[in-house]
Amino acid sequence: MPILCGVLCKILEARMKDQIKILAIETSCDETAAAVVQDGREVLSNVIFSQIDIHQKFGGVVPEVASRKHIEYIAHIVEEALIEAECSKEDIDAIAVTYGPGLVGALLVGVAYAKALSFAWDKPLIAVNHLHGHISGNFISHKELEPPFLCLVVSGGHTHILGIKDMYNIELMGGTRDDAAGEAFDKIARSLKLPYPGGPQIDRLSKLGNKEGVKLPTVKLKDGGYDFSFSGLKSSVLNYLNQMKLKNNEINDADVAASFQEKVVKQLLEVTIRCAKENKYNKIVLAGGVSANTRVREVFKEKCQKEKYNLYFPELKYCTDNAAMIGAAAYYSFKKSIFADMKLNACPQIGHLMIKPTK
Ligand code: KG4
Ligand code: ZN
Repeated sequence: MPILCGVLCKILEARMKDQIKILAIETSCDETAAAVVQDGREVLSNVIFSQIDIHQKFGGVVPEVASRKHIEYIAHIVEEALIEAECSKEDIDAIAVTYGPGLVGALLVGVAYAKALSFAWDKPLIAVNHLHGHISGNFISHKELEPPFLCLVVSGGHTHILGIKDMYNIELMGGTRDDAAGEAFDKIARSLKLPYPGGPQIDRLSKLGNKEGVKLPTVKLKDGGYDFSFSGLKSSVLNYLNQMKLKNNEINDADVAASFQEKVVKQLLEVTIRCAKENKYNKIVLAGGVSANTRVREVFKEKCQKEKYNLYFPELKYCTDNAAMIGAAAYYSFKKSIFADMKLNACPQIGHLMIKPTK
């Protein structure tokens, strides 16, 4: 009971302040990250330890290794985030943490660390859905952006179109029926013997290739909904590569990369624009690792300019996993006084919806 009173007092105290500083932690996959974010939009620090070099040897993220590295680095990264933000624990109003979706062992490290800090420092705890984090990366890069808007969240684990009425009223308009777009990028990159993560490699290589160099199918699902599919496209690329090898023909990797990327990007564009048009959204927001893709940005910019949509995407550093976006998302929960308690657990499969933690 005294703990609860202490936290309630802290919440009341914080709500009286002009500026709210949230210490955010993100460990859902292979980045150990911590940040201090003020009022949901101003990043005071954003520290990331990327494990990419470690996982590259294995061609992808090894969950057990990721968890162990998070344990090794989390305390240092949080400390660095506080130092960089010139904050002590007294300046922090709440601790936010990604609790899902993601790798369960990796999430558990962040959740356990955040709970420990919340308990030891007597600060409220905020549970953040990783996808809400990705969406909120845009609030940092575009200070004026407010819902409602249509958001394409496109990352290594997810490809969703979300109708954001507000951050607590989110409608799933469509999603991938098989692979996430980032996952497809990574798999094709792997088949071209490019290092993990493959998305940036395909992006880079595509600039040297002909996007019509390899004939690939245009995927259009027939039911008129807003879903995506990337596995047929991926199989077509793999079949093409096998056929070429069997015939001892030379493969132009840059053409393969550019042709594949173009089909993915055009599918993302077609479905998103149609969804915006039919549902009368005039703001289109891109989020997640694949929103860093040069061609994605290019074709969305062109189309949105032509059809008069307002387009938003995060700065590159807020596209892929980081903790600043978690701090930005947490601010919405703070304003609504939605806090988690010590029962908070990692939820690897929560999907896109906000699960309201225990108040
Ligand atoms: O958002 P993120 O860091 O992690 C998840 O929540 O999944 O996204 C990582 C994904 C990876 O699949 C990576 O290959 C892809 O985003 N990615 C890209 C680019 N940068 C990252 N895909 C295409 N082009 C890029 N420039
Ligand atoms: Zn992510």
